Amino acid sequence: MTQDSTIKVIPIAGSLGAEVCGVDLRTMDNHAWAQVHQAFLDHKVIAVRDQDLSPQDMMDIGARFGEPNHYPFVKGIDGFPFLFDVVKEPSETKNFGGGWHSDTTYMKTPPMATLLYAIETPEKGGDTLYCDTAAAYEALSERMKELLGSLKGVNSAGLKHLGGRKSHHATVGGMAITGTDDADSYEAVHPIVRSIEETGQKSIYCSRGHTIRFEGMTEDESRPLIEWLQAHVTRPEFTCRVRWRPGTITIWDNRRTQHNAVNDYQGMRRHMRRLTSGPTHPV
Ligand code: SIN
Repeated sequence: MTQDSTIKVIPIAGSLGAEVCGVDLRTMDNHAWAQVHQAFLDHKVIAVRDQDLSPQDMMDIGARFGEPNHYPFVKGIDGFPFLFDVVKEPSETKNFGGGWHSDTTYMKTPPMATLLYAIETPEKGGDTLYCDTAAAYEALSERMKELLGSLKGVNSAGLKHLGGRKSHHATVGGMAITGTDDADSYEAVHPIVRSIEETGQKSIYCSRGHTIRFEGMTEDESRPLIEWLQAHVTRPEFTCRVRWRPGTITIWDNRRTQHNAVNDYQGMRRHMRRLTSGPTHPV
């Protein structure tokens, strides 16, 4: 029996998210990868359990999506500059990645995919929430689609809403934070509605985390609509939730989702490894 004949894709919520079962991502052949990739296109967020992945394995899986993306604010692990550890120690209270966002939209070529691999997980809590920004786009009125289609978003790494990246990251002490002095200089303008080539979908590419204003408008003028869009894309029917255990890897499509790391495991340790991959040119 070939490996791919046993692959099963089990949705975890109505709008997005699936568990992909019966595949070893280290040894899969191209045919098995085609099924995993199809699940990624169909479900936007895929979780694969019970994987035993070295840093090189993660790089190899990430390469299926394209070149690795550089993350400017956390040092890579030894020998793997694109891979970094997301750690919250039992003594820490703030977490990394809390708050809705799509990854590094303040870069000129933000990543298609993020790969997050669980190494140590709390007994309870520490899930990651996802929302489906393509389904949220579809649910808009035609007039709103038209309006958003005319807007571009200015995305910044500054994390102003969290009091600035430098002070926010200073509170996630278990991580190898770097370069936050220059965070405000990372800015990129992208369309608020982006098109997904492989599926023909459109999605809302705007988050409270990174979008500071619409091009040609002030922050004050932009904020109410950014807040409305954030509330809209995170309506319960557009969300799913991944419960982690060591050995789970989740791969999500940053073009059509946002995520939010839930900070509900005080006093416990959580250790994940992250890679972003497949630079894109949002249009
Ligand atoms: C992130 O935003 O990349 C971190 C997500 C998580 O730790 O669940």
